[in-house]
Amino acid sequence: MARFHPLPVAAVDRLTDDSVALTFTVPPELREEYRHSPGQHLALRRLADGTEIRRTYSICSPAPDPAGEGPGTLRVGVRLVEGGAFSTYALKEITVGDELEVMTPAGRFTLEPAPGLYAAIVGGSGITPVLSIASTLLAREPEARFCLIRSDRTAASTMFLEEVADLKDRYPQRLQLVTVLSREEQQAGLPSGRLDRERLTALLPALLPVDQVAGWFLCGPLGLVQGAEKALRELGVNRAHIHEEIFHVDAGAAPATAVPAPAHSTVTARLDGRGGTWPVQDGESLLETVLRNRPDAPYACKGGVCGTCRAFLVAGEVRMDRNFALEAEETEAGYVLACQSHPVTEKVELDFDR
Ligand code: FES
Repeated sequence: MARFHPLPVAAVDRLTDDSVALTFTVPPELREEYRHSPGQHLALRRLADGTEIRRTYSICSPAPDPAGEGPGTLRVGVRLVEGGAFSTYALKEITVGDELEVMTPAGRFTLEPAPGLYAAIVGGSGITPVLSIASTLLAREPEARFCLIRSDRTAASTMFLEEVADLKDRYPQRLQLVTVLSREEQQAGLPSGRLDRERLTALLPALLPVDQVAGWFLCGPLGLVQGAEKALRELGVNRAHIHEEIFHVDAGAAPATAVPAPAHSTVTARLDGRGGTWPVQDGESLLETVLRNRPDAPYACKGGVCGTCRAFLVAGEVRMDRNFALEAEETEAGYVLACQSHPVTEKVELDFDR
């Protein structure tokens, strides 16, 4: 069960003009709770003018060794989003010694280190979880190789430039690094321009043996991830080998259709071992209904992107406005995003503990 704890900020490192890395200290008694897999994220929350704001940020530091103790520090990357209530605060106000409310790690955009060839296509701040995935994999698995294809506007706007260069220095044979800058000329031979489906379909077979890649990790803005997925499918890659995490979905990307809930619909929810049944008000999501009665219900983005509100649909039927977080296997297995779900049947039952 996800929980928040106050964690002190140990470092604030400026990465680019519009991004920082925040490092938190994890006290020994909480290290087990903050044990994470490479690729997971943390939700941070703050109260501003009486309103609670939550945002998720991916962990960029390597995951702890399963045989050792949990992490003593956690580092996340934060990029400024225009008008973003949390990112503006993170970039302008947070200083060393502040305490922030940090949720225990969540997310299924993860890699279990194993020998083999892995690859990632990332755009902008999408490098953040992939930095953790690549550094954990290369450190733990001497037989693993990683191909990192990253796309950014300019070198100056590229997050974790030094960290990625250090990783390349440490594993020159096992890390293949390809950087594509869309707004800057590069040295001869290096690609520039936008990484879209057509570019990738042509570029990927020239870079690596596409059919031998054990896992593809696509992370970044919606357009890049969708384009990369189409390119991979065109190249014959099985959907089961593709993992996706989308950052920054515009509010208008999948407009919600206002379908009224059946009259007197109720949601029964099980959360942290305790259950309850509550009436759903017209237009609200099932997460909103549950939150009014159980403020400890897990969520972060409320936008169908982070997956924190995932719940198992035990009974009834729901309609989801949009889903950028759950894989097809998860929805087929019966999982839904509570923040995007509205009742279709009069009775709906959710289990947040499954
Ligand atoms: S809270 Fe992020 S997907 Fe529902």
